[in-house]
Amino acid sequence: MRILLAAAAAVSATLFSTPPLLAQTAAPSGDAGLVARGAYLAKAADCAACHRAELADGKPYVGGYAIASPMGNIIAPNITPSKTAGIGQWSFADFDRAMRKGERPDGGKLYPAMPYTDYQGISDADMHALYAYFMQGVQPVDTVTPKTHLPFPFNLRVIMAPWNWLFRSNKPFTAASGLDPQAQRGQYLVETLGHCGSCHTPRNLLMAEESAKALSGADVAGWHAPNITSDPISGVGGWSQPEIVDYLRNGHVTGKGVAAGGMGEAVENSLRYLTQPDLAAIAAYLKASKPVRDPAETKPAFAWTQVRPVPLSAYETGDSHDQAALAKSDTTDGALLYANGCASCHGLDGKGTKDGFYPPLLGSSTTGAANPANLVMTILNGVDREGADSHSFMPRFATQMNDDQVAAVANHVLATFGRPDRKVTAAMVADARHGGGKPLLLTLMPWLFGLGALVLVAIAYLGLRRPRRRQVA
Ligand code: HEC
Ligand code: HEC
Ligand code: HEC
Repeated sequence: MRILLAAAAAVSATLFSTPPLLAQTAAPSGDAGLVARGAYLAKAADCAACHRAELADGKPYVGGYAIASPMGNIIAPNITPSKTAGIGQWSFADFDRAMRKGERPDGGKLYPAMPYTDYQGISDADMHALYAYFMQGVQPVDTVTPKTHLPFPFNLRVIMAPWNWLFRSNKPFTAASGLDPQAQRGQYLVETLGHCGSCHTPRNLLMAEESAKALSGADVAGWHAPNITSDPISGVGGWSQPEIVDYLRNGHVTGKGVAAGGMGEAVENSLRYLTQPDLAAIAAYLKASKPVRDPAETKPAFAWTQVRPVPLSAYETGDSHDQAALAKSDTTDGALLYANGCASCHGLDGKGTKDGFYPPLLGSSTTGAANPANLVMTILNGVDREGADSHSFMPRFATQMNDDQVAAVANHVLATFGRPDRKVTAAMVADARHGGGKPLLLTLMPWLFGLGALVLVAIAYLGLRRPRRRQVA
């Protein structure tokens, strides 16, 4: 029971978007070289995504940003080298222990919102470089971050001890057998610094990543991080290696998909800064990873390329084709909503623009996905992403359309350009607005509390009865 409760603390809802601190590109020698190396690794590990200030213009790593978790907000601490407010007094051993074991110098346990279960496998050399960077390359800021206050029982940090005992590995990173050196490098980046599994790997009832199903897809805060194993149907086996590299650098591959939500932020804050060899290594590893197939799937998401015709009259509004009109209208006619809100960029025929800048909605991993979550989330939240070479922007429709309208336009897109056997309901849209369904464990929480209370009552009852019986006897 306690372990179950402890485990709930393991949810890490990751919300990213911070103006990145540029990695130093010069190659100085000695200590400066180590610091520059650490700056690059901090980019690869996306430390700034979580350890950012509460306000967008805050200093890097000053913390204060509240990471939403189903148990409540977890505040990312100040990790600048400030001696009073940050980690300026920490030795290398202290830093290493927090990064690998999730334990502070005072013994306090960290919540796994800090991805220490992934960082655990970082090499010693890389850990030293990261430490050198955080001590010498980051500007100290003396702003104390507010404390995290989760409700009982999650406020008892000691409950992380049994969870760590069950789920935290102590083994150094080991490359899978049979991989060439490039793919081995990729596996290292994916499993440790890149912590890709924190979004792409499904979690068990205790909210720990299920290693047997590594990278086979999981729900994160309303989005679905798809299967990125090498399987040609359920995963990215049908993407070429250069396509994957392009996706990671720019978040956009015409005919495959675009990166929005947490992935757009991973591209913007982290992946676009990686070197070409490191991106190629990640792609090589994904292509060589253990395939995981969903037996219900028959073709890859991007292979839904057929346009199903809609009579032109269905698009006729009689009114103006603009978004302001859309905001005022209460129509739930999906074709009309599409004509007014989407066709100016994606085309009535869903083919986008020739250069792919406005992407096609057929042959896209979003509209052909078995799970329409990303379609709904893209309509609600739009896209705003800085890639290595380009900036992508689609407006958000969350305030312009109600749940019924979002469902209607999504269903029009699915029926006309994507997977016609998938349907979106207004209830799904309402759920998506609140960050998606809760993990099973939290849905079960009231029951667990109920069960726990029953067990306690039973123990107390037996405990009280026994001595009395003995007294009587
Ligand atoms: C997905 C979000 C996330 C990422 C990425 C992340 N952290 Fe954290 N980190 C956290 C949170 C949240 C905490 C506080 C957890 C708690 O309160 O138990 C934390 C705690 C820490 C602490 C302990 C600080 C203290 O005062 O207790 C250190 C040190 C740290 N992180 C360093 C790093 C470094 C270095 C990186 C990159 C290599 C990194 N973190 C990446 C979320 C993150
Ligand atoms: C914060 C959560 C998060 C992290 C961390 C993350 N991803 Fe993603 N990823 C997503 C989401 C969500 C999508 C779907 C985005 C969309 O369709 O707009 C996605 C999509 C992808 C896709 C496209 C798959 C498809 O079928 O469309 C690839 C490839 C990918 N991620 C690779 C990676 C790699 C490699 C890493 C680690 C370096 C990583 N991701 C880290 C959330 C994440
Ligand atoms: C102002 C132009 C514009 C409008 C209007 C617009 N979009 Fe987009 N849409 C874009 C851009 C730009 C992208 C992302 C391209 C990128 O990331 O590189 C995008 C991406 C998408 C994606 C993800 C495609 C993929 O391959 O993963 C979907 C789905 C989508 N839009 C649906 C819609 C729907 C439905 C509407 C109407 C409710 C709409 N869009 C309105 C410009 C627009």
